[in-house]
Amino acid sequence: MIRSVVQGCGAYLPDRVVTNEELAKKVDTSDEWIRQRTGIRQRYIAAEGEFTSHLAIKASERALEHAGLKAADVDLIVLATATPDETFPATATRVQASLGMTRGAAFDVQAVCAGFVYGVSVADSMLRTGLASTALVIGAETFSRILDWNDRGTCVLFGDGAGAIVLRAEEGKGTAEDRGILGNALHSDGRQHDILYVDGGPSSTRTTGFLRMEGKEVFKHAVVNMAAVVGEVLEKVGLTPADIDWLVPHQANKRIIDGTGRKLGLPPERVVVTVDQHANTSAASIPLALDTAVKDGRISRGDLLLLEGIGGGLAWGASLVRW
Ligand code: ACO
Repeated sequence: MIRSVVQGCGAYLPDRVVTNEELAKKVDTSDEWIRQRTGIRQRYIAAEGEFTSHLAIKASERALEHAGLKAADVDLIVLATATPDETFPATATRVQASLGMTRGAAFDVQAVCAGFVYGVSVADSMLRTGLASTALVIGAETFSRILDWNDRGTCVLFGDGAGAIVLRAEEGKGTAEDRGILGNALHSDGRQHDILYVDGGPSSTRTTGFLRMEGKEVFKHAVVNMAAVVGEVLEKVGLTPADIDWLVPHQANKRIIDGTGRKLGLPPERVVVTVDQHANTSAASIPLALDTAVKDGRISRGDLLLLEGIGGGLAWGASLVRW
C-alpha cells in the first residue's frame, strides 16, 4: 500500500514582530484583553513588497533542506492560501519557478484556516494514486493585507507566515504502524458563509476586501466541528485518542485549542501551542506549529500526530500522520 511519508518540514516568519503593546498604541485594545481572550502575545507582519510567495519560498527551501531533497526531486506543489500574490496565476507556480522546479504540477488550494489540512489531503490522494511521487505542501499567508485595521474585533487576531512539509510516496504495510498520512477527513458547510468571510473579490467587487467575522459564532462551530472531525478520522484509521502522541492544531485561539485537547483527554504538554508567538496565520499555522515541535525535539520519528483546522466556508478537516 502506498503511503505519503513526511520527509521534512520548514517554516518562515517575516522579520517584523508586532507585540500586543505596540498594537494597543494604534488600536483601542490592550495586551490583557488579547491574551485573556486568545492567548496571543505577538504576530509577525510581512514587509512592504514581501508577498505570500516570498514567505512560501523560504519555508519550502527550509523544508527541502530538512528533507535532504532538491527542488528537482519534487513533482507536485500544493500551496494552501487565502491571500495569493495575484488573482491568477496560482501562487504555487511562483514558488515552482523560484525553486527551479520545471516538471510536475503546482497549484493553490483555498480553504482558509483549514487550507493546510485540505492541501495535505489533496497531495496525499495524488501521491497514493500515482499522479505524483514527491510533493511540497505549503501553507502561506499575508493576512495583514486583508485586515481592517479599524476593526479591533479582528485585526488583533491574525499574522503573516508560512510553513511547508515534503511528502514522498513510499510502500507501506497498510497498518496504523506505517509512517506517513494514515487518514484524512474533510468537511465544509457553505451555509455558514456569513460568519467569516472577506467582503470583496475579483468577481463581486473587483477589490480585495477585508476580513469580516462574527467571533462568537465561529467559536461555537469550531469547538463542535473539531471534536466531530477528530473522532471521525480516528475511527477511519481504527485508532483512539489514547494513541495520539501530539495534537498539532490550527493556531487560532488558545481557548479553542484547549477545548479540543480536553475533549481528546490529552494533557496540555501533548498539545503544540504556538499561537502566542505568531497569532492566527490561517493556512500557515499548522505547519508553523509542526516545525516548531519537530525542530525543538518534541516530535520524533514514529509519533502519531493529529492535525486539525477550521476556517471560513466554513471548511474544516483533520489528518492523522505517523511521523
Ligand atoms: N480589544 C478590546 N476589546 C475588544 C476587542 C479588542 N481587540 N475586540 C472586541 N472587544 C470588546 C467588544 O467590543 C466587546 O465590548 P462590549 O462588551 O462593550 O460590547 C467585548 O470586547 C466582548 O466582545 P466579544 O466579541 O463578545 O468577545 P469574545 O469574548 O467573544 O471574544 C473573540 C472575541 C476572541 C474573537 C472570540 O469570539 C473568539 O476567539 N472567536 C473565535 C474566532 C476565531 O478564532 N477566528 C479566527 C478565524 S477562524 C479560525 O481560525 C477558527
